[in-house]
Amino acid sequence: MLSPNPPLESLIADAKARLKQHYDCDATLVAVAPGRVNLIGEHIDYCDGFVLPFAIERSIIIVAAPNGRSEARIATASTDEPAVIALDRTQITGSPKWSNYIRGVIHGFNARNISVPGFDAFIVSSVPGGAGLSSSAALECATATLLEGLTGEVLSTKEKALLAQKAEHDFANVPCGIMDQFASAFGEEGQLILIDCQNGEPQLVPFADPSLTIIVANTKVSHELSDGGYAARRKSTEDGLALIGKASWRDVTSEDLAAAESKMDATTFKRSRHVIGEMHRTLEAAELLKQGKARELGSLMYASHASLRDDFEVSCEELDILVDIAEEIGAEGGVIGARMTGGGFGGSTVTLCEADKAEDIAQKLAEGYQIRTGIQPEIFASRPADGARLI
Ligand code: GLA
Repeated sequence: MLSPNPPLESLIADAKARLKQHYDCDATLVAVAPGRVNLIGEHIDYCDGFVLPFAIERSIIIVAAPNGRSEARIATASTDEPAVIALDRTQITGSPKWSNYIRGVIHGFNARNISVPGFDAFIVSSVPGGAGLSSSAALECATATLLEGLTGEVLSTKEKALLAQKAEHDFANVPCGIMDQFASAFGEEGQLILIDCQNGEPQLVPFADPSLTIIVANTKVSHELSDGGYAARRKSTEDGLALIGKASWRDVTSEDLAAAESKMDATTFKRSRHVIGEMHRTLEAAELLKQGKARELGSLMYASHASLRDDFEVSCEELDILVDIAEEIGAEGGVIGARMTGGGFGGSTVTLCEADKAEDIAQKLAEGYQIRTGIQPEIFASRPADGARLI
């Protein structure tokens, strides 16, 4: 029931063969960037909060070769629609839609006075799309890494992640925080990444215990609300902070919120309560992990999910069902904790569990979910993996 993570070597070999088939050239560059799962710290990266994601063993791979033209020609295994991007002019959004992530990253290089030479490329992916696993951040980071190889201009990891985030803002119109691109860029095998979203500094937190693993369960649903819903949540937190009267959520206490409650509508109050609670839960989780107490994370994960469901209202029935089943399996069955991960309104859950029970847990999650929803979920396990790189 656990679907295997396709080995990188075979994905690369496949991409190279398809590049040859499409554009009759041999790859000289291979860029890889992973998707991410967030263990805890949800919807607070845009509130100066702390988040604790990691790069997963699922990646986007771009193989490429210079083509001597003034355009990029890019095909992908996921759609039949290739992209042709003129490189001798200012980048603007265009079609196909997926090419905007690439256009945005090219724009970021141009904005730094780095011109991009023509290239042909083929993209393959093992990151499920629309599953809340940041396939878009992976595409942006893989593109930025490829362009570093093509131009010889290597950015700092932080600058690369910020460039990728700006591409998402300006070319995909999603006002995201920094978590996804940071996780894809800074990922390291065996390490979670505690990101201080106020100063943009990542700190590695070992996920060291080999007897533990993390299961990702994709609900396979993505509710329509998502685009507007994300921006609306972000706006609520800004309204809440303004009513509390502080410059940053980092300085807000539960007492500050209580004092401002009478000025707020009920929704803004609930959103604000989530931000404060999630900030504390994330720091507590990081502390437990540093002390080698990962098995004590369960209550924090369930509380995070409840807060996202009830106060932040970004969960959905399908996510709740997967978390409920995980909780029913419980510690006896090897589950330490579970919660929704990512932006919500569908997407995936993350379940921290005993590695030797992972297969059994995946089976139970799949069966229970299918009975209650009629949908077959996609389930895989992943330990923290390396971030964006050239191979
Ligand atoms: C999306 C955004 C991130 C973050 C999460 C919620 O993945 O891209 O920046 O806000 O949602 O934690």
